[in-house]
Amino acid sequence: MSKLLRVGVLTGGGDCPGLNAVIRAVTKSLILEHNAEVLGFEDGFLGLIERRVRTLTYSDVSGILTRGGTILGTHNKANPFNFYKRGGADVSAQVLKYTHTLGLDALVAIGGDGTMSISHRLQEMGLNIVGVPKTIDNDLMATDRTFGFDTAVSIVVEALDRLHTTAQSHQRVMIVETMGRYAGWIALYAGVAGGADVILIPEFDYEIDEVVRVIRERESYGRSFTIIVIAEGAKPRGGELVVRDIVEESPDPIRLGGVGRILEMQLSERVKSEVRTTILGHVQRGGTPTAYDRNLATVFGAYAAAMVASGAFGRMVALRHNQITSVPIAEVANRTRTVPPDAPMLAAALAVGASFGVTDLRHRFSGTEITPTVS
Ligand code: F6P
Repeated sequence: MSKLLRVGVLTGGGDCPGLNAVIRAVTKSLILEHNAEVLGFEDGFLGLIERRVRTLTYSDVSGILTRGGTILGTHNKANPFNFYKRGGADVSAQVLKYTHTLGLDALVAIGGDGTMSISHRLQEMGLNIVGVPKTIDNDLMATDRTFGFDTAVSIVVEALDRLHTTAQSHQRVMIVETMGRYAGWIALYAGVAGGADVILIPEFDYEIDEVVRVIRERESYGRSFTIIVIAEGAKPRGGELVVRDIVEESPDPIRLGGVGRILEMQLSERVKSEVRTTILGHVQRGGTPTAYDRNLATVFGAYAAAMVASGAFGRMVALRHNQITSVPIAEVANRTRTVPPDAPMLAAALAVGASFGVTDLRHRFSGTEITPTVS
C-alpha cells in the first residue's frame, strides 16, 4: 500500500455558494480514491498562520452539499506575506515550517484572485498547492466559469422577476444593483435572463442621456415601466467608480457599491416615472447553490484531488471550452477577467433590444457573431 497522503484544504476570501460542495468533493475523493488524510484549516490562511486545523473525515463532509457558506470559515484579510495582526509582517516562513511540522504533502486552496496570488507565492517557496477557482463575480482569468456565479445570477434573476411585477403595477423605473467588482458578468447574465431593458456594466461607461432616451421611448410606446440592471463597478462616461467602503487591511481594500442610488437621483430629475433602487448586496452570496454550481463544484473538487494525487502542483483547476483542465496559478494571480467585447451574451442582449447605455454600441458590434455554444 502506498504512503498515506496528508492534504490540507482551506477556503479564502469572500464566501460563495458551492464552497462546501468543493470541500466535500475534495475530501471524499481524496479519502475514497487516493488513500489520503484530509486536514481542514479554519478561516482561510488565518488558520494556517494561527495553526488552527482539524481533521476532516468522510462523515464530517457528508450532508453539506446543499449548504451555503463554508464549514471551514473564511477570511478576507489574512495574508501570510503581509499579516494584518502583526503590523504587516511577513510570516510566510513560519507558515511553511508549520506545514512541514504537520507533514503536509499538499494544500488545496479554494478561492479567488487574492487566494491564488498568495498560493502562487507559497508555491514558489516550496509548498505544493492546487487551486480551485471560486467567486460569484466570474472574473478569474484562465477559466470560463467559477462556481458560485450561476447561483448569484439565479438570485438576481429571481429579484428581477419579482421587481418586474411591481414595476408594471406602479409604472416605475426599477434599478437593480448587482455585485461583480470590476466585471459585468453577473449584471450581464442576470440582465439577459431577467429581460432587463437596460444593462449597465463596467466594461462600457454609460451615457445618462442614452438611459433617459430608452426610458422616454418606452414611455412613448405606452410601456411605462423600465427595468435597469447596473453592476456595482459601472460608471457614467467621465464619472468615477462609487466606493462604498475601504477595508484597510484587505489585500483588495476597495469595496464598491451605491452606483444604483446615484443613477436613481440622476434619472429622477429627468423622467416622468418614479424611480426606485434595490441593492442586492450580499444576498447574492448566500444560501444554497444551484444544481449547476453543485455539479461544477463537485467536478472541480474531484479533479483537484486527482491533481494532488498525480503531483500536478502550482496549478488551478479550470473550465475551458466545456472541458475540465488545469492552468498555472501564475496565470491567474493578480489579474481580472472582464466581459470581452466579442462575448456572445453581449451580442444576444443587443439582438433582443437591451441597451448598454451607450449610443453607438449596436453599430460597434454589428459584425459580432452569436455562436450557439454559450457556456
Ligand atoms: O468578490 C465577491 C464580492 O461579493 C464582490 O462582488 C463584492 O464587490 C465584494 O465581494 C464584497 O466584499 P465584502 O464581502 O468584503 O463586502
